Amino acid sequence: MRESIRFYLGSVRHQVSGFSPTRTVLDWLREDRRRTGTKEGCNEGDCGACTVLVVRLEGDTLVWRAVNACIQFLWMLDGAQLFTVEDLRSPDGALHPVQQAMVDLHGAQCGFCTPGFVMSMVAYCKTPGASMEDEAINTALAGNLCRCTGYAPIVRAMKQALTAPADRLDTQTEAIKTRLKALVDGQTVEIAGPEGRVTLPASADALAAAYQADPQATLVAGATDVGLWVTKGLRTLPHLISVGLVPDLHKIEPTPEGLRIGAAVTYTEAKEPIAALLPDAGEVIRRIGSTQVRNAGTVCGNIGNGSPIGDGPPLLIAAGAVLKLRCGEAHRSLPLEEYFLAYGKQDRQPGEFIEAVVIPQPQPGTVFRAYKISKRFDQDISAVLGAFSLVFDDAGRIATTRIAFGGMAATPKRASATEAALQGKFWTEATLKAAQDAMKTDFAPISDMRSSAWYRQTVAVNLLTRLFVETAPEHAGTETRLAGWKEQAHV
Ligand SMILES: Cc1cc2nc3c(=O)[nH]c(=O)nc-3n(C[C@H](O)[C@H](O)[C@H](O)COP(=O)(O)OP(=O)(O)OC[C@H]3O[C@@H](n4cnc5c(N)ncnc54)[C@H](O)[C@@H]3O)c2cc1C
Ligand code: FES
Ligand code: FES
Repeated sequence: MRESIRFYLGSVRHQVSGFSPTRTVLDWLREDRRRTGTKEGCNEGDCGACTVLVVRLEGDTLVWRAVNACIQFLWMLDGAQLFTVEDLRSPDGALHPVQQAMVDLHGAQCGFCTPGFVMSMVAYCKTPGASMEDEAINTALAGNLCRCTGYAPIVRAMKQALTAPADRLDTQTEAIKTRLKALVDGQTVEIAGPEGRVTLPASADALAAAYQADPQATLVAGATDVGLWVTKGLRTLPHLISVGLVPDLHKIEPTPEGLRIGAAVTYTEAKEPIAALLPDAGEVIRRIGSTQVRNAGTVCGNIGNGSPIGDGPPLLIAAGAVLKLRCGEAHRSLPLEEYFLAYGKQDRQPGEFIEAVVIPQPQPGTVFRAYKISKRFDQDISAVLGAFSLVFDDAGRIATTRIAFGGMAATPKRASATEAALQGKFWTEATLKAAQDAMKTDFAPISDMRSSAWYRQTVAVNLLTRLFVETAPEHAGTETRLAGWKEQAHV
C-alpha cells in the first residue's frame, strides 16, 4: 500500500500526500505551484480556460490528452506527466509552434482564454492523424470559449501549427516513457488528508473490497460530474474511491456477447469502436461535452450518475446494451433499461459498482438512428435525445424495434407503446401516424430550464417523422441534416 501519489509536473517529479481528496489540479497548480498561466474561468468544465495536457503511457505508446484542470482531482494525476502552458517555451525563450502561430495570426486579444486554447491546440497536434479540416479542428477546440478574438484566427493558427516540425515535447518521448514506466508499481494507494481520504485500488478486486468495506464512499471515474459536486455544489466528500485509474477496468474489447466497455473507458476511447457498430451513436458521442470532457468522462460514469438527460443511456438502451455489475465477489448482468428505477434511484446494492457495459453486435439489417436536440450544437446537455433501432424482415416489415429517449421522463426510458405500434408493420405513413399517436402516451415530460414539456413532446413526435424520412423504403438515403450545420459548431 502506497500513501502518496507520484507524477511529473513538466520534468519535475512530485510525490504528494496529506491533501484533501477533492483538491483540484487547478487549485494545486495555481495556489501551491504558482503556475498561474492556467486560468480559472467557469470552474465547471465549460470554458476550457484551465486546459492542461496530461500524458500517460498505454502499452508502449504515449497518449496525450487535454483535460479541464478545474474538475480533475489532484490524485487523478497518479502515474501521469502533466504539462501546463509554462512548459511550452524552450529554455532559449523560443515559443512553441502553437504559441508562435497564435502570435503570427493574431489568435489572441485580451489573452484570458489563450493558455487554455494553446494547450488544447498542442494536444490536437499530438493526436494521431490530426486533420486540417475545419470540422475536425472545430471539434477539437469546441471546449474552449473565447469572447473577444473570434475563432477564425485561432483556427488559422491551428492549421499553421499542424505544419510545424516536431516540438520539444516530442524530442522527450523516450525520456517521458522511461519516467512513466518507473512510476508503475501495481500498488493500491490510500491517501488521508484533512478533509477525508481517497483510495486508488490497483485492481477490480481491490476496488470491490474497498467499496464493500465502505459502501458510503463516492466512486469517481472521470470526475466530469463529481468534480462539479465539489466546485459548484461545494460538497465535502469524505471518502472517494477511484474507478478511472483501475487498470482491469480500462479495457474495451470484443467479446462473444458484444463490445465490452470497461468502467474506466472514456468517451474519447470508446467513440470509434462504438461508431464502428452504430455510426449514428458515434455522431452523438462527438457532441457529448467537449474534447476535454470526453477525454476524462467515461461511458459508465454517464450511466452511474443516473441522470434522465445523459446522452449515453438512451443510445445504449436502444442498442440492447447489458450492464455488468459487481458486489464483492458476486457478478450480475442487467439489461440497461432495468437499471434506472426512478429519478435518482438505480438498481444498485450497497457496495455494488458497474464493471462494464456490453453492446451486442447489431443484427444484420439493423437500422440505427440517434438524434440529440440541444440549444447549442456543441458542448450542451440534451433537451431530448431519441435513439431508434429497427430490424426489418425479408418482406420489409419491422420485425423488432427498440426505441429509447432521454429528457422525456424521470429516467432514460423505452417508448414501449411506440414500439408496439411499429412491431410487425410495414414502414408506411399510416404506421408513422399510429406510432406518433402512441408516443403521446409513452411520455409525460416536464418543463425545466432546458425546454418546456410541450417542446419536448413535440420534438419527440417530430423525431419519428425524421426517422421515417431517413429510413422508410421510399425515402431510402434521404439525409435530413442541414447542409452547413457543421460549420456552425462554434457560433
Ligand atoms: C462541461 C460538461 C459538459 C457535459 N456534456 C455532457 C453531454 O453533452 N452529455 C452528457 O450525457 N453528459 C455530459 N456531461 C456530463 C458528464 O461528462 C458525463 O455524465 C460523463 O459521462 C460522466 O462520466 P465520469 O467518468 O466523468 O463520471 P464521474 O463524474 O466520475 O461519476 C459520475 C457518477 O457515476 C458514479 N460512478 C462512476 N463510476 C461508477 C461505477 N463504475 N459504478 C457505479 N457508479 C459509478 C459516480 O459515483 C457519480 O455518481 C458534461 C459534463 C460537463 C462538465
Ligand atoms: S475553468 Fe472553465 S473549464 Fe475549467
Ligand atoms: S482573447 Fe479574450 S477571451 Fe479569448
